[in-house]
Amino acid sequence: MGTDYSNIAQQYKKSKELPIRLHVEAYTYFNMLGDLGRKSVLDLACGEGFYTRQFKRKGAFRVVGVDISETMIELATQQETKEPLSIEYIVGDVLELGEIGSFDLVVASYLLNYAQTQEQLLKMCQSIFVNLKPGGRFVTINNNSEQPPASYLTSEKYGFIKSIDEPLQEGTPIRYTIFTDEETFSFDNYYLSTATYEWAFRSVGFNKLRWQKLMVSPEGVREFGQAFWQDCLDYQPMIGIECLK
Ligand SMILES: C[S@@+](CC[C@H](N)C(=O)[O-])C[C@H]1O[C@@H](n2cnc3c(N)ncnc32)[C@H](O)[C@@H]1O
Repeated sequence: MGTDYSNIAQQYKKSKELPIRLHVEAYTYFNMLGDLGRKSVLDLACGEGFYTRQFKRKGAFRVVGVDISETMIELATQQETKEPLSIEYIVGDVLELGEIGSFDLVVASYLLNYAQTQEQLLKMCQSIFVNLKPGGRFVTINNNSEQPPASYLTSEKYGFIKSIDEPLQEGTPIRYTIFTDEETFSFDNYYLSTATYEWAFRSVGFNKLRWQKLMVSPEGVREFGQAFWQDCLDYQPMIGIECLK
């Protein structure tokens, strides 16, 4: 389904060097995650393991990464061979994953925005829920369905833009175009409303949901100035989500 990351695996890896990734995305994500010490973590849609490795380095005792793209998992495994962290990587589709363990934390940055229908979103949420211990948390960074399309071009200065060919409705593709120093590449996410997300989380059994706005790290403000980040803070292209089992 959706974008085949096998074709853009290397470029995607490079895009993690954009300042917005470090000072906004990672800063917000790790703030939500809190202390990872002695936690078991399942990283769904782990890609080439950019965050997966950081979870292990930050003290998680067991980390498992799952991604549908063989190329992404191959890149992750190569890195694991170079610098062993005892991370387990699995090629798998979250839509059909089933229960592979019982984790303190399930994380899945930019997975849910690949669901094209309510049914697919529900299946992803089921896979997340069954792999969590009672009391466990699901934490993610996702496309923000609430961002007004009129503001999509304001993120150009951060190295990416979103675009659409039709008004937003359930399943509308949202094209992300990313500009790194070396090249430009694109991939599609899919719009589902915030109400649909809330419906899916509650339907599978999550009882507490929290939406977390993007935050900018103090280093990001020092390095680029507050004014540089204002559009990101005003229009919130991405959003954090936390659900409690
Ligand atoms: C934008 S990348 C994010 C990678 C990583 N989470 C990160 O933040 O760097 C999205 C990833 O989702 C994976 N993906 C998309 N649909 C999936 C599915 N149904 N099951 C597992 N992985 C999926 C893609 O292969 C890709 O590696």
